[in-house]
Amino acid sequence: MKRIPLIWVTAVSISVILFSCSSSKKVTGSGATTLRDAYKNDFLIGTALNSQQIEEKDSNAAKLVPEQFSAATPENIMKAEIIHPQWGNYNFDLADKMIAYGKKHNILINGHTLIWHSQLPAYARNIKDVDSFKTFFKDHITTIASRYNGKIYSWDVVNEALNEDGTMRKSIFLDKLGDDFVTEAFRLAQKAAPNTNLYYNDYNIEQPKKRAGAIALIKKIQAAGVRIDGVGIQGHWHLNKIPLKEIEESIQEFSALGIKVMFTELDIEVLKRDFQGADVSQRVASNPELNPYVNGLPDSVQLQLANDYENLFKLFINYKDKIDRVTFWGVSDGQSWLNGWPVRGRTNYPLLFDRQYKPKPAYYKVLELKTKKNAEQQKPF
Ligand code: G3I
Repeated sequence: MKRIPLIWVTAVSISVILFSCSSSKKVTGSGATTLRDAYKNDFLIGTALNSQQIEEKDSNAAKLVPEQFSAATPENIMKAEIIHPQWGNYNFDLADKMIAYGKKHNILINGHTLIWHSQLPAYARNIKDVDSFKTFFKDHITTIASRYNGKIYSWDVVNEALNEDGTMRKSIFLDKLGDDFVTEAFRLAQKAAPNTNLYYNDYNIEQPKKRAGAIALIKKIQAAGVRIDGVGIQGHWHLNKIPLKEIEESIQEFSALGIKVMFTELDIEVLKRDFQGADVSQRVASNPELNPYVNGLPDSVQLQLANDYENLFKLFINYKDKIDRVTFWGVSDGQSWLNGWPVRGRTNYPLLFDRQYKPKPAYYKVLELKTKKNAEQQKPF
């Protein structure tokens, strides 16, 4: 074996020590105490906001959101039913407030959503004539996307266009415009919003068949020479059943298409449900047995929730170079859509902050993944 001269060994050792010292100083200096701070070098941490929160009428959220989150998505107010309630008549009031809120608090805004079969206004659902529908489609995308071009960070251009088997979902868009409506939506959005990131967003697309459908859809957009910047995996998952393997495969396969991966509507449901996903048309009759934690969450469930979030974020951190944003679907448990779906009137606990906006054990697990790691890196010194 060739011997390495002592002077080289000494030089290399000194450099390693110096490098370790300087990188340790860097992490020591982070001292992160909030999610947005702890993850600032990894990916954006987002939340969904309701109208009370956008208008800063919810005092708890008004304090907590700017501290904890670096991105936000309007939960409902940019959906067609609200922003475009009558033919050619737009209501930008709350959407403009959302943009102003982001600017004020240095929070990047993801627009949700330009094209979705659900929450369409009645006049749009009832358009019979193909040309009129095309006019609605073009006008809707162009008007909204151009208004916020350069002011909004990203758009969910098309939401939930796929069935569970990866085929195209039956909808008025498919019916009137055919298979190419997704590509056409991106083409219009690209023209109207050249300075905004453009994403496809869906639930269960980490599952193999639906994922294959999403990949085919994205490739089709790319083959048409149209821009797509990322894909949003919604992430409505269930306690103790987080599909980590499928999520990891999805990150790898989607990013291999040259686009960013986002987790856009993250929550972990702790109550019983026999199906996975977020199809708002699926409903289950109310029954006390389906609502067992009205008086609080048992410690064992709280712990499982914390472990699930910890494992998920470990995976996200491993792929931080491919992930642009992780957004929770709501700020605190009390406002989560999962209190009302698929069973009405339940007491659910899917988020990191409880009904009093206090951090839950899951919050600390997610935070400590960054702060503890930093602490470990500092140990040698
Ligand atoms: O605003 C009306 C209010 O005026 C009325 O009194 C009340 C009576 O029910 O309804 C209110 O509208 C509700 C709206 O949320 C605002 O709270 C709708 O009924 C209700 O259906 C709607 O639910 C939203 C759901 O999408 C349906 O579109 C949820 O808040 C929202 O979290 C959920 O978000 C979707 C994403 O956009 C796409 N992915 C799935 C995700 C979960 O379903």
